[in-house]
This record gives sequence, structure tokens and C-alpha cells, in this order.
Amino acid sequence: MMIPVAVSALHGTLIVLGSLIAAVGAVVMLVNLWAIVPARQGKLIDRPLVGLPAQVTRRKFFGRSLLVGFAGAMTSFGGISLAFLWPNLKGGFGGKVSLATPYSEIVAQIAANRQPFYYAPGRFYLVAYDESNPNGKIYASQGLVAGGLMALYQRCVHLGCRVPFCQNSQWFECPCHGSKYNRAGEYKLGPAPRGLDRFPITVANGVVTVDTGVIITGPPRGTNTTGQEPEGPFCVGQVGQTH
Ligand code: FES
Repeated sequence: MMIPVAVSALHGTLIVLGSLIAAVGAVVMLVNLWAIVPARQGKLIDRPLVGLPAQVTRRKFFGRSLLVGFAGAMTSFGGISLAFLWPNLKGGFGGKVSLATPYSEIVAQIAANRQPFYYAPGRFYLVAYDESNPNGKIYASQGLVAGGLMALYQRCVHLGCRVPFCQNSQWFECPCHGSKYNRAGEYKLGPAPRGLDRFPITVANGVVTVDTGVIITGPPRGTNTTGQEPEGPFCVGQVGQTH
């Protein structure tokens, strides 16, 4: 528990520090540009010397300052980029996500709404999956089923669009090129090369935790552990068209 909090604090500190350095670097660069540009318009031989005992022309002095400012700005830019790319281990995508909604409520919502429980910050759907299904060993053996739930990555394995769930067909249907997956995220139709990728999941003390830092490649085409046929008209018809 300590590690995620520490990393999150580091994440915020990096952003604040990087922003400050970037602002200072930008100001230094502007000041020096303002000093250099007018200098270049006059005769250089009459430039006064500053700095003792080693004499440095004003032009060199401002040139070096400009370089320092530029280097500072670039370093802070790199720091900010790293901070944003750093996996968010506190509760967002890229780390372990413990849902605030209790396990029992998630299960109840899935049954009542006849659709998966969608958790946008973690970029996954929780779907109901019968743990007693003998065909489901391929998932259970990888820690992908817990408490009758499975966590599916929202990203289409074709070209990465977010795949919504179709209430009519009770399948996942990608609006981009028409790939379709059954309720367990297993490939059914379209150009996708396999089933939806998924994440390890655990349920303890009524709390559902999904490890979005570990992406498990989806099952190959032909996998059909549920036998679920479309339960109504498709939401996505021809490729790229919805109706
Ligand atoms: S991105 Fe989903 S079918 Fe192409």
C-alpha cells in the first residue's frame, strides 16, 4: 500500500517541479533572446566586456545563459513527460485498480442492467463469467476469473478502438471495422485477429481489484467457451456503419 502512495506523490512532485523549471527556463530564454537580437543589429567590436577577471563579451555571456535556459527547459520537459508516462499505481490504468463499488453491487448491476460493469479510469469492462464452466479453465488458470467476474480490456485488438457493448446482441461490437466479440470477449466476427485482451482480477473482502499493469493476450480465434449466440440485432452493421 505504501508503494503506490509514494509513487503517486513522486508523480505529482515531478509535475510541479517540472512546470516550475519550464517556466523559469522559458523566462530566461525570452530575456536572453531579447538581449541578443538587438545586439546583433549593431557593431560587435564596440560591445562592452563584462565579468572579471576572465573577460567575456556580453554576447557570449547571454549566449551561454540562453543555452543554460534551453537545457533547463528541455530537462523539465523530459521530466514532465516521464511523470505523465509513469504508470499510475494508485487507481488508474497501468496499475492495480481497486474499485470503490462493492463486489456484490457490481454483480447486481451486471445482472439487472444486462450489460457489463464499465470502469472508464481502468479502461476495462467487468463481465459475468461462470466459474464452474469446464471450458473456462483457460481463464481460471491465468487468474482471469474471480468471484464469477472477468476483466476485459476495452481496446479492440484489431486497431485499438474502444469496443462498446451492444445491449441488443449482448456482444461487444467495434464501431471502427465491425469486429465482434461475445460476452466473454471471445472473437466472433470481423478483422480482429483474436479475442479481447484481459487483466488478472481478484476479489477479497468484497473488494474487486483488477491489475491493469498486466495485459493478458486474448484467446485465439475459434475459442468459444460460452457458446453464446447473438441475442438480438447487431448494433454495428456493415464495416464502419452503425444502426
Ligand atoms: S479497430 Fe475494431 S474492428 Fe478495427
